Amino acid sequence: MPEVLKTGIEGLDSVLNGGIVKNAAVLVSGNPGTGKSIFGIQYLYKGVTEFDERGIYISFEENAEDIRQAAESVGFDKWGELVEDDDIKVYDKQVMLREGDFTSAIDKLLDDFTESKYDRLVLDSLTMFQLFFDDERENRTYLLKFTDILKQNGLTSLLINEQGAVFPETEIGLENFLTDGNIYFIQTPTDSGVNRYVWVAKMRKKNINTDIFPMEIGEGGITVHERAGGFSMMGREDSVF
Ligand SMILES: Nc1ncnc2c1ncn2[C@@H]1O[C@H](COP(=O)(O)OP(=O)(O)OP(=O)(O)O)[C@@H](O)[C@H]1O
Ligand SMILES: [Mg+2]
Repeated sequence: MPEVLKTGIEGLDSVLNGGIVKNAAVLVSGNPGTGKSIFGIQYLYKGVTEFDERGIYISFEENAEDIRQAAESVGFDKWGELVEDDDIKVYDKQVMLREGDFTSAIDKLLDDFTESKYDRLVLDSLTMFQLFFDDERENRTYLLKFTDILKQNGLTSLLINEQGAVFPETEIGLENFLTDGNIYFIQTPTDSGVNRYVWVAKMRKKNINTDIFPMEIGEGGITVHERAGGFSMMGREDSVF
């Protein structure tokens, strides 16, 4: 059995058959508001508070203050303190865009990885990261190099992807093949709000449960409700699609 890092979300760790394989780079996809950033925040917060594993949060879209507020909105009140203590390192929009050009910003960040001991990383988002490259080939080469460096530095990473669930008939982006695992967050509208679901579609080296499970976001972050059988993607009466 490969070594794993627990996400700290009980239901999800059970769906993942223990957790995320150590040194994996996992793609986390979903439409806006589905909980991708909350998941990243929770992964790092639980990492420090429950498993003594330090984390790095890279954001191109938000500043450190927005991220702290998002953490506090679900009751992760010690977020600010953990950032101050460097248990969680935040590279926010301002830091990332301060360097003259993008690759020097990334190089600076990679230097930091090798110097200090971090176990978990969240890139929010890969979509923004990819905008810095002119063509698909350059993009793919850099993504491969980047994920390689993360692994070499012992980081287990979530790469956030601003894209809804991909179904067989739609085009599947390259990033899906270049990463070790795929987790999708899905929401469907209801009369009173939304129903939320999580689907682990792939995790290399691991036997996972590929059913879709209902989840909630609230105080304490994401809760995944494991229930017998979950939902199947295809061909079942109770399919959510
Ligand atoms: N305390 C809370 N209780 C209930 N829901 C909450 C709470 N805090 C945040 N949310 C919900 O969590 C969702 C925010 O999720 P998040 O910001 O992680 O989405 P995202 O997938 O990162 O979106 P985007 O692609 O726009 O960045 C929102 O729908 C918000 O309403
Ligand atoms: Mg987000």
